[in-house]
Amino acid sequence: MNKIIYLDAAASALKPETVIKSEGDFLRESYANAGRGVCTRAVAVDDMVANARRRVAKFIGANPNQIVFTSGATDGLNRIVNILSRQPWYSEMSTFAVSDLDHHSARMPWEALLHNGKIRKMFKCELDKNFDINPNEIPKTDFLIITAMSNVLGRAQDVKKIIAVARKKNPDVVTIVDASQYVVHKKIDVKKWDCDFLVFSGHKIGADTGIGILYIRDSEKYFPDKFGGGMVAKISDKKWTLNGAPEKWEAGTLPLTQIAGLVPAIDYLEKNRPDTDLIKYAYDELSKLPRIKILTKRDDAILSFVVDNMHPLDVGAMLGAYNICVRVGNMCASWIHQLIGVPGSIRLSIGSWNTIGDIKNFISAIKKIVK
Ligand code: ALA
Repeated sequence: MNKIIYLDAAASALKPETVIKSEGDFLRESYANAGRGVCTRAVAVDDMVANARRRVAKFIGANPNQIVFTSGATDGLNRIVNILSRQPWYSEMSTFAVSDLDHHSARMPWEALLHNGKIRKMFKCELDKNFDINPNEIPKTDFLIITAMSNVLGRAQDVKKIIAVARKKNPDVVTIVDASQYVVHKKIDVKKWDCDFLVFSGHKIGADTGIGILYIRDSEKYFPDKFGGGMVAKISDKKWTLNGAPEKWEAGTLPLTQIAGLVPAIDYLEKNRPDTDLIKYAYDELSKLPRIKILTKRDDAILSFVVDNMHPLDVGAMLGAYNICVRVGNMCASWIHQLIGVPGSIRLSIGSWNTIGDIKNFISAIKKIVK
């Protein structure tokens, strides 16, 4: 069989050997539950989880007790809405603001509140002519959702400025950053951004599926959204005393195998960020071809395009016949496609495994498809 050319890192990254080994070693040699035992193995697993939490915290400039393990960015984004809408101070007269860069998971949980009459109004943050969030046009709102980098357009947004403007308009605004795509390409510093919540998925950074990170700045302040084992310090018929953060956020058994892969994934990613020169090369070559409209800019971290008179799914299937994997469709980011005026697009996204040869093969296949 011919080699598969995987140009779909943004859908899910391939895994470094160190991640695979770490998870395999854990499952074979040191598996036990965390937070539930005192035997040597159980204590070693507690240490592994604590070490992973410290590593994630360092990765984004946070403190370990602000880091919550979730099952992914979607889980984190849904949990944030559940957390906030349960706080005693939450008001159904509140407003939230989104942008058309959002992934479905960033906006839909808030829209569900809106549909159920549990929040008053949705505002949109304006995008400029380059489809970037215009920091000067941020509405005054109670909750602000910011996509730090669109999974379709791959361009970093000015999160720091957006948050600063939002706080000027409402000092109590709660800011939520979806960093799922951003984290792959750029260093995050949550303190610099001054955000209240931030999420990303493990699977996009070379860790496993089923693991995500939820950063909660004031992790001691909020009442939790999930209840069960590991988050209770004392309980009787009359009273609960909850553990402090991060335990109070992590009811139930953690995704331990996936946590075992987190540290090697982050170590690897920090040394091997995707080489955007490959995207530039693809951009230059695609620009020469007829029928192709590129939706992204040359400097962007990913490349999305459409082909005149061809549905993206057909292009994807044809590329598949050349053993080339790309993502096609609306990428769970329908709003940006609607704004651009296309039903979907074809997306090229790269990881450290990709070479210039992969891009050349992709270009040669696309040439045959559009000719
Ligand atoms: N949201 C992921 C993507 O961009 C899965 O493909």
